[in-house]
Amino acid sequence: MFHKALLVLPLIFLSSPTFATPLEQREAAPGLIDGLLTGILDPIRQSIKDILTGVKSGVADGEISSKPLLCLSTVDKCCVWYDVSTELTKRFKETNGQCNDAARAAIRFGFHDAGAWDKDTTTGGADGSLMMDFGEIDRPENNGLQSVRLLLREVQAKFKVGYADLAQYAHNHATISCPKGPRIRTWVGRKDATGAAPTGKLPDVHDSPDNLIALFERKGFSAHDLAALVGAHAAAKQRFVDTSQAGKPLDTTPGVWDVEFYNDTLQEPQNPDIFVLPSDKKLSVHPKIHDEWLEFVGDQPHWNEDYAKAYIRMSLLGVTTAELKGLKDCTRTLPKKTNK
Ligand code: HEM
Repeated sequence: MFHKALLVLPLIFLSSPTFATPLEQREAAPGLIDGLLTGILDPIRQSIKDILTGVKSGVADGEISSKPLLCLSTVDKCCVWYDVSTELTKRFKETNGQCNDAARAAIRFGFHDAGAWDKDTTTGGADGSLMMDFGEIDRPENNGLQSVRLLLREVQAKFKVGYADLAQYAHNHATISCPKGPRIRTWVGRKDATGAAPTGKLPDVHDSPDNLIALFERKGFSAHDLAALVGAHAAAKQRFVDTSQAGKPLDTTPGVWDVEFYNDTLQEPQNPDIFVLPSDKKLSVHPKIHDEWLEFVGDQPHWNEDYAKAYIRMSLLGVTTAELKGLKDCTRTLPKKTNK
């Protein structure tokens, strides 16, 4: 009798509506992440600080492991991410080893989810809101992200991971799915959104370079970071800027994460096989960016390092101190780097 009661009680406790906690309102951290990385830090926040300040690399090309035969999710939060990784590899890779349309869309998706934030907002950031049901996907700036959103929602439903984590994990997975892409250090443990991200925080392709630089500065990125970040257009196509040229790649090698983009963007006359975004053209020759742009031409390790550092900042936009403290490093679950 005593034993029976012991078994039944926890079940009642778990299923009883009286004990259900209301959905806690998610608030994005006000201010830049740098303000949250001061004083005595736990190892995770110290490691993030070291990367953001350039003491340590954000690229972890060598940290690879396969899922242990016995992987207990209660002990190791990364267990499920090994399975997510296997699934995403199937979705993001072509048979020739290059990354595909779903991968490039996932790279953009991670940015559009996290980037809808700045230091003065208390909503948005890397919170999964773009994947959730808050209507963000219907905003014009998110045109083209519908299919990958559905793909990611399928993955979320299958593995029951957080939306916020999945958006950033998929970005990092897509990057390494492209030959030559960096293996960006990857944490999980973010809180999911409880509402839509603010509007007007994502870049407009027709805006001036000064405005674009200022927009990214409000998120904590330098002009140098922006030069590295727009390099993601190395693995990109356009469909909506000029619909008569829909499907044209933004560089000559869209299935590979290489520095051709930096070279291709500068060419005059422009290569007719590619589409150079007006924003990329203007940024490439802007005095605050041009020198860095030239340095990336022909220097893959330099770009990969700078991209990883800047994207780690992106993947943590709006994340609070409490969330930062609970993050778990699951970089080891990502696939290994390929060069072709
Ligand atoms: C000045 C900043 C930026 C502007 C103005 C911009 C604008 C655009 C535009 C207009 C497209 C084409 C959309 C279409 O017509 O289908 C695009 C595609 C893309 N963007 Fe950006 N972007 C910026 C920064 C970034 C950043 C920071 C990332 C990633 C970290 C990124 C990743 C991508 C990717 C991967 C694609 C290709 C998507 C696909 O092929 O499905 N962009 N971007």
